[in-house]
Amino acid sequence: MRNQTTTFTSIFEQEVYEGLTAHPKYLSSKYFYDEVGDKLFQDIMAMPEYYLTDCEFNILEANKTEIVDLFVDHGEPFSLFELGAGDGKKTKILLRHLVERNIQFDYRPIDISQNALNELENALFKEIPEVDINPLQGTYFDTLRDIGESNGRRKVILFLGSNIGNLLHLQAVEFLKNMKDAINPDDLIFMGFDQKKNPQTILDAYNDQAGITEAFNKNILTRINREMGADFNLDNFLHWEVYDPQSGTAKSYLVSKVEQVAYIESLDLEVPFKRWETIHTEISQKYDDTIVTWLAEEAGLEIATSFSDKEENYKDYVFTK
Ligand code: AVJ
Repeated sequence: MRNQTTTFTSIFEQEVYEGLTAHPKYLSSKYFYDEVGDKLFQDIMAMPEYYLTDCEFNILEANKTEIVDLFVDHGEPFSLFELGAGDGKKTKILLRHLVERNIQFDYRPIDISQNALNELENALFKEIPEVDINPLQGTYFDTLRDIGESNGRRKVILFLGSNIGNLLHLQAVEFLKNMKDAINPDDLIFMGFDQKKNPQTILDAYNDQAGITEAFNKNILTRINREMGADFNLDNFLHWEVYDPQSGTAKSYLVSKVEQVAYIESLDLEVPFKRWETIHTEISQKYDDTIVTWLAEEAGLEIATSFSDKEENYKDYVFTK
């Protein structure tokens, strides 16, 4: 067993240690996203079951003029920040429209994955070279500080894809408060929130037949194997998804099919699993207007307006302070 004075060489190591020695075990979904995980998430976004991406894409496409009107306000140049930019597939709708209208802005995508940022920068350079891009690697919480201390231009912060859904409500309120502190009264926040709907539709989105979500969920163990010299046998775990229609919380687990012990070399840690023991890896929270209004109120933000599809499967809200 590892002694307590050993120092961790990264936050990832520390969080893996904490999560896998806890009862019940857990790991943070932010560690899904390395080069392999980014690709798997792109595959998820392209699958028919994962309705979120298409839904938001269509909302942005249908409302881009009105949305960009909101961003432009009095016409002065602004900075467009994006938290969790990923491959920017949806954002490109707005970027193209901004460029077409000759609007002065700079684009500052933020992502936990340096790989995703590199690919986004290359893609934009080819597809929309007019965009002045300034990528920033980090977690949402680290980078909000940089947003607060930026160049003095008006700020618009994009947070698409219902990425907020990875946070528990109390963390989401904390996060929204931090966003509020990073902006001025003229600035705005544009955020996607996946909505409560038929529970089966939600379960299917996180439990696809082809097993892409399973591979995505297990990628966290693959990363620990590679980056920490561990020996998790992926075949000994199954992907399990639950959705509680009352709370609106979808949860992902890795479930140990057998009694087993994994060893993590860089932590000199043995991780024992009972048969059917779980590792909780992700929450994907679903919302309705009541919950979003409550979150905004708790954080001291106001909902200026919102955009949705006809069925209200998904909504983008505009917040101001
Ligand atoms: C990128 C966090 C929005 O929770 O829907 C997709 C990640 N996990 N399938 C989500 C994810 C499993 C996704 N977010």
